[in-house]
Amino acid sequence: MQNIADVNSQYLEQFKYITALRDKLLSYYGYTPKATVVTFGCQQNVSDSEKLKGMLVSAGYILTDDETETDFIIFNTCAVRGHAEDRVYGNIGKVKALKKANPKLIAAVCGCMAQQEIVAEKIKKSYPYIDLVMGTQVFHRLPEFIYKRINGSKRIFERTLQNEPIVEDIPISRDGKYKGWLPIMYGCNNFCTYCIVPYVRGRERSRDPYKILEEAKAMVKAGYKDITLLGQNVNSYGKGEAHGINFAKLLRMINDIEGDFVIRFMTSHPKDCTIELLDTIKDCKKISRHLHLPFQSGSSRILKLMNRYYDREGYLSLIKAAKERIPDVSLTSDIIVGFPGETYEDFAETLSLVKEVQFSSLFTFIYSPRNGTPAEKLPDPVSREEKGKWFDELLLLQEEIAENNIKNTVGKEFRVLCEAKADTEGYLIGRTNGTVSVIFKADDSLLGQFTDVRIDSYNGSYMGTKI
Ligand code: 5AD
Ligand code: SF4
Repeated sequence: MQNIADVNSQYLEQFKYITALRDKLLSYYGYTPKATVVTFGCQQNVSDSEKLKGMLVSAGYILTDDETETDFIIFNTCAVRGHAEDRVYGNIGKVKALKKANPKLIAAVCGCMAQQEIVAEKIKKSYPYIDLVMGTQVFHRLPEFIYKRINGSKRIFERTLQNEPIVEDIPISRDGKYKGWLPIMYGCNNFCTYCIVPYVRGRERSRDPYKILEEAKAMVKAGYKDITLLGQNVNSYGKGEAHGINFAKLLRMINDIEGDFVIRFMTSHPKDCTIELLDTIKDCKKISRHLHLPFQSGSSRILKLMNRYYDREGYLSLIKAAKERIPDVSLTSDIIVGFPGETYEDFAETLSLVKEVQFSSLFTFIYSPRNGTPAEKLPDPVSREEKGKWFDELLLLQEEIAENNIKNTVGKEFRVLCEAKADTEGYLIGRTNGTVSVIFKADDSLLGQFTDVRIDSYNGSYMGTKI
C-alpha cells in the first residue's frame, strides 16, 4: 500500500473524502466495513482494480472476496465482446439478493461497460439496486461518490469523458508481491473498426515519464521482480508530448534502474512497432524476450476494412525483423475470426500466417458486433455456426504448432522467476522471461527469486528440475 502521507496535490481533493470516510464509515456501519472488487476483462482493468482497492483500503474498508459478507461491492467491467457483457449482467443481478441480506450494502459498476450510455441507461431502469455507475475517466473519484451516497445522495451516474490529464497518486493496493502492473498510458486513438475501446476509454494519454520511472524504482525497491508496462498501445507512448521520450527510450530508462528484474509490456500495435523498439529489446537484458503483436487477420483486404494501417506483407516483414534481432523471441497474437464480410479465402490467409510465424500462443476471438462501431454496420453474411467451424480449425492448427513448441522447449534450461506455489506441496511455479511457465520441486524460500531450471517434460504443464 502506498503511504497516504505521500499523496500530493493531484489527489488532495479525494484525499479529503478518504479522511472524511474513515470517520463516517465506522459510525454508519458500527463496525469496520468490508469491500469487494470484482474484475472482468483485460490487464488494464486488473490494474485499475488495484487502485480501486487502494482507495477502499485507505478509506477504512477491509477487502474480502466473499460477496455475502461485504458492505461495498464494485464490478469493474469489460465491453470488448458481447460475452464479457453478458457475464457482467449476470453478476450485477445477484446484488438484489445481497442487498436483501445487507440493506446497507453499496453497489457500484465501473469500467468500459459503465462508460456506455446505453448500459448506464439500462442499469438506471432495470437494476435499481445499483447505487453508483462511474465511467473510465472518473473512477479515481470513488471516495467522493461513496461519501455522498452514504450521506443520502441520490443514485450517482458519472460518466464524464473529457480526456483530461491523467490523475496521479491514487493509492494502490497491488495484488502481487513480485509481479506488478505499471500503466504508462491510457486510451486509444486507433479506431479499429470492430473495437469499442476508443469510445469507452477516450483518447491516448501518456503518463509523465518521470512519474513512471519513480513508480518503477519504488516497485523494484519494494521487491517486485517482474514489471509489466501497460497501455492499449504502448508503442505509441509519448507521441505528441514535448518531453520527446518515446516507448523505446522509456524502456531503456527503466532497464537502467539498478536491480534484478524483468520488464514486460503490452499491448503493441504492429503499425507502431519500430526497428528502434526491436533493437532496444535486443540491447536491454532486463526486457522480456516476448512480443505480443496482435495481427487480427492474415488477409490484407480484411486488415484494410479493420483500419489496421498495415497489410499481411508489412506484418510478416516486421516478424522477420524481430526474429533476426531477437532469435529467442516468443511471439503471441490476437486474432479475430469472422469479421463482417470475411470469406473462407480470407480466413485461409489467417491460417497460413499462423503456420508461417509459429506463435507461442494465440488469443482467438469470434467477431462480436459492438454498439456504435463502424464494423457493426457492415453486412455480415457468414453464420455464427460457420464462424465457429473456422474458429475450431484455427485452434486445431495452433494445437499442432504448440506440440512443436513443446518439443523445442523440453530439454532446455531457463532462468525463471519463482512466482507462486504450485498445487502440489513442495513445488513452485516459475516463469521464464518469455512465455513459458514451469513447475519444479523447490523450497518456498525461493518465492520471488530467480533460479535456473531445466524443463524435463510436458503433461499439460511443463515440469522441470531446479539446476
Ligand atoms: N470482437 C471480437 N474480438 C474483439 N477484440 C476487440 N474487439 C473485438 C470484437 N468486437 C479483440 C482483438 C483485440 C483483443 C483485445 O480483443 O483481437 O486485440
Ligand atoms: Fe481496440 Fe485497435 Fe485500440 Fe487495440 S488498437 S484498443 S484493437 S482500437
